[in-house]
Amino acid sequence: MKAKIKAYAPSLYSLAKGCYWKYRNLNERFRGTGVQERYWSKRHLREGDDWGSRASTGDQNEWVQGYWDSRSHGHRQLMLEKVKAFGSVRSLLEIGCNCGPNLALIGKEYPKAELVGIDINPEAIEVGSRILGRDGLSNVRLLVRRADELREFQDKAFDLVLTDAVLIYIGPDKIEKVIAEMARLARRALIMIEFHADSAEGSNGLGIYHFGCWKRDYVEILRQCADDIREVRLTKIPEKAWNAANWKDLGYIIEALF
Ligand SMILES: C[S@@+](CC[C@H](N)C(=O)[O-])C[C@H]1O[C@@H](n2cnc3c(N)ncnc32)[C@H](O)[C@@H]1O
Repeated sequence: MKAKIKAYAPSLYSLAKGCYWKYRNLNERFRGTGVQERYWSKRHLREGDDWGSRASTGDQNEWVQGYWDSRSHGHRQLMLEKVKAFGSVRSLLEIGCNCGPNLALIGKEYPKAELVGIDINPEAIEVGSRILGRDGLSNVRLLVRRADELREFQDKAFDLVLTDAVLIYIGPDKIEKVIAEMARLARRALIMIEFHADSAEGSNGLGIYHFGCWKRDYVEILRQCADDIREVRLTKIPEKAWNAANWKDLGYIIEALF
């Protein structure tokens, strides 16, 4: 009997796993991005650290602290190089900034630039504002907002608009609106660190569900959502900069230049 259970266990496990992902896919397909928005806006109520390492200090929420401690992660250096390639940058908006690890790096490089970060999670914004203030980064402002809630900013209000692992949580129901808003706000370029897949099979152009995230063809979708983009550049993130599952295969820095 034991031997029989052992023999069937791996296939039962993969069946259960298959059902789980099928359920999540259908849930997000039918209920839309709201599923992820609810998850992320309440992320601090669950235990755990998204960066897989224990927080270095005990005084902040461990989840947020994990993001702050990831400032030296390899992909952030690439992000900074991409920003610096634009030379002088007077303003930048990061969508889904969490507590601002990217903005802290950019802020040190550009102490006079106006840097704004928005995130759906109130605790990330509160803790981030406190840490950034403590570090003397007075030119960075963090706000609790949703990615599709950016009407308060004027057209072409920022030189650059940045996302890092955020559009992977925006489903087909909202992605066109979010990208069109980003294009409305950016004067010089969009920089997106996301899952890119060339005209992936089965895609309607808006995204293919991939283990809890959305991958899509950004060249195609940018073409659909913004008509003033003159060039799209794709840079594959090298494995040595980000060797996590999915990122090493699908992780790209996508730059849309106006
Ligand atoms: C994987 S984390 C990446 C955080 C940050 N960009 C970084 O590089 O560390 C995704 C972030 O996006 C935020 N987020 C998810 N969906 C969002 C939405 N619809 N609007 C605004 N922020 C969102 C989450 O709260 C979370 O902080």
